[in-house]
Amino acid sequence: MTRDELERALAELPFRLLRRLARTIAGPPAMRMGKRRIIHTIMAAAETNQARIEAAIRTHQAEQHAIAAVPSTPAEAAADPKAGKPADLGSFLEGIGVPEPRPFVPDDWQVEAVDALERGDVIVSVPTGSGKTYVAVEATRRAMREERTIVYTSPLKALSNTKFTEFSKVFGPESVGIITGDRRDNPNAPILIMTTEILRNLLYDAAGGEIDVRLDTLGLVILDESQFLGDPERGVVWEETIIFCPSQARMLLLSASIGNPQELAAWLTSIRPNPCHLIRHQRRSVPLRAGYLHPNGKLTPLFRTVAMPPSPSQAILHPEAKRLFTMYEEDASYGSRRSG
Ligand SMILES: Nc1ncnc2c1ncn2[C@@H]1O[C@H](COP(=O)(O)OP(=O)(O)OP(=O)(O)O)[C@@H](O)[C@H]1O
Ligand SMILES: [Mg+2]
Repeated sequence: MTRDELERALAELPFRLLRRLARTIAGPPAMRMGKRRIIHTIMAAAETNQARIEAAIRTHQAEQHAIAAVPSTPAEAAADPKAGKPADLGSFLEGIGVPEPRPFVPDDWQVEAVDALERGDVIVSVPTGSGKTYVAVEATRRAMREERTIVYTSPLKALSNTKFTEFSKVFGPESVGIITGDRRDNPNAPILIMTTEILRNLLYDAAGGEIDVRLDTLGLVILDESQFLGDPERGVVWEETIIFCPSQARMLLLSASIGNPQELAAWLTSIRPNPCHLIRHQRRSVPLRAGYLHPNGKLTPLFRTVAMPPSPSQAILHPEAKRLFTMYEEDASYGSRRSG
């Protein structure tokens, strides 16, 4: 290795290895010595210790290829007896995969949401992955039976494309159209997927007397990701869409992250012809697990327990996650000083 290559390879080593290497070739480094100074110390002794340094680098590189699992060290667990043994990677990853197929049974809140649309508008505020699409599909099915037009809006073109594919599979391609800034397919279909901006513009035109025929029979407007109502820049689009939505159409607002759904339901009730029903719960169908993945490929649970801590104040970091993160910070600060 040339001196440059050697220095670059040393910069890739974790801090603790560099300290160990510095100790073996130049004596114990001072406690407060940073990564940059340790590398300089090693480089100063490189000429007479080249083989030893290269061996350390090669061992580390070979280890990196072999690493998959990270057991946590019992010594660290013992250091905090109150917290118990930290979760190991095996239990952290256990059960992840495709579940056994089971017959589909809608949850009570899903049935309640679809039924509530018979009586008025509905806000569904439930966690990610709970099954909001089922509510949208069943509500669409009902509106189709009544020969109404259904508009499904999302904030992103990419999400609109995904929904277009999904709805085309469920209702058949002839029944579903899409209108976004980039795409216009089957625009006279009874089910129309569009970005919220496009719907707002159609409603604007209608307010000015230019009524699009598709709005005549509008029976259901689904606003997916409706937390965008609170977006400082785009929120006004959702607000105007709700205000201008024809009174004969039902509104279904879907979101995993509205902070004040009661207030929103009260507002809809005050400006729309029928009361707005709020469906809300916080149970996760798919529990969250938090892990920490270091750029070197090491994965570890982020917290000592596999389950998410009930509140941030009860969150205790996994010792391995702490160690990897410290290593990352040291490497990152060395890298930025070196390129700066
Ligand atoms: N009652 C149910 N029982 C079992 N699985 C269900 C049920 N309802 C929906 N699912 C499944 O749950 C998964 C997530 O559903 P969906 O995409 O509708 O979630 P979502 O609430 O829209 O999530 P997001 O907030 O990410 O948009 C899908 O695979 C769906 O088939
Ligand atoms: Mg969804």
